[in-house]
Amino acid sequence: MTKITKNISLVIDELIKGNPVALPTETVYGLAANALNKDAVLNIFKIKKRPHFDPLIVHIKNISEIYKYAKYIPEDVFKLADKFSPGPITYVINKKNNIHDLVTAGLKTVAIRIPSHPLIINVLKNIPFPLAAPSANMFGRISPTSAKDVLKELNGKINYVLEGGKSKIGIESTVLGFENNEVFILRPGFITKSQIENILGKKVQHKIFKTKINSPGLLSSHYAPHTPLYIAEGNIDFDILKNRKAGFLDISKFKNINSLASNLFSELRKMDEKKYTFLVVEKIVNEGLGFAVNDRLQKASSGFIKMLNNELVIVKK
Ligand code: TXA
Ligand code: MG
Repeated sequence: MTKITKNISLVIDELIKGNPVALPTETVYGLAANALNKDAVLNIFKIKKRPHFDPLIVHIKNISEIYKYAKYIPEDVFKLADKFSPGPITYVINKKNNIHDLVTAGLKTVAIRIPSHPLIINVLKNIPFPLAAPSANMFGRISPTSAKDVLKELNGKINYVLEGGKSKIGIESTVLGFENNEVFILRPGFITKSQIENILGKKVQHKIFKTKINSPGLLSSHYAPHTPLYIAEGNIDFDILKNRKAGFLDISKFKNINSLASNLFSELRKMDEKKYTFLVVEKIVNEGLGFAVNDRLQKASSGFIKMLNNELVIVKK
């Protein structure tokens, strides 16, 4: 049985033993373990059934710690960190040897993030190691944004989930890569392209990986509910959806894009539990945070759905 606890020392003891625990962050809950302990990291992969080609993010307590685990750090990282860290942004930079190949899936780079949730920062301040932490879900599934949602994914597989309330942001960090003075968005997230460009005073690009390595947030299927999800193209006839016992995620009920992002995963999870035959969601405007939301919807989806001669047509990926 997995316990939801508010007792931070219990959680710290567990981490020191080398056992993964789920911790709250401002983006989503993470499955955390000692990033310098190979067996602890191995446990993360085992618990999540995560393939070893998918590298983990290493969480540190403040920006000065970055020198312990990374080298040749581009100036742009510090410019961005000044503005956005602690917060939902991850820097992929050259790793030092103390970061095991298992953490980085054999890559020479390590992903580093300084989270802002006070509880994970408190944990980090009380342990002598950084925390490797992917989202606390089974591989390919929806990221959890509350302690209860972690239980739905990992009950019985870890001893503790630290209760930290609902994740405020609800969508994962923006992952950035750096090459020859250029900056690339490897995974869109809460911090948008234009926010990054404004700080750096230059253009940044989205980078599409062609190989399977270092691409996982970019695998075409990810963040997925068990019930197939389809993205609507054009208007859909609601009566037909009802007749087919399909669920419709009405995004117009959210007051703004931030509120949609912060509730997206929990809404998908709720709908997934309702025994619909399939789920339908509308695409949103592809700009700012909408870009990251569409990215998650696309990866969660099994294809798209549209009306043709008054019939529903499903086109699978
Ligand atoms: O908001 C977040 O980032 C959350 C919280 C828990 O911090 N974490 C998270 O971790 O989303 P995860 O493992 O679900 O996603 C990590 C992403 C993956 O897409 C992975 O490919 C990428 O970061 N990544 C990690 N190390 C990398 C590297 N060396 N090169 C390229 N991508 C890397
Ligand atoms: Mg994940």
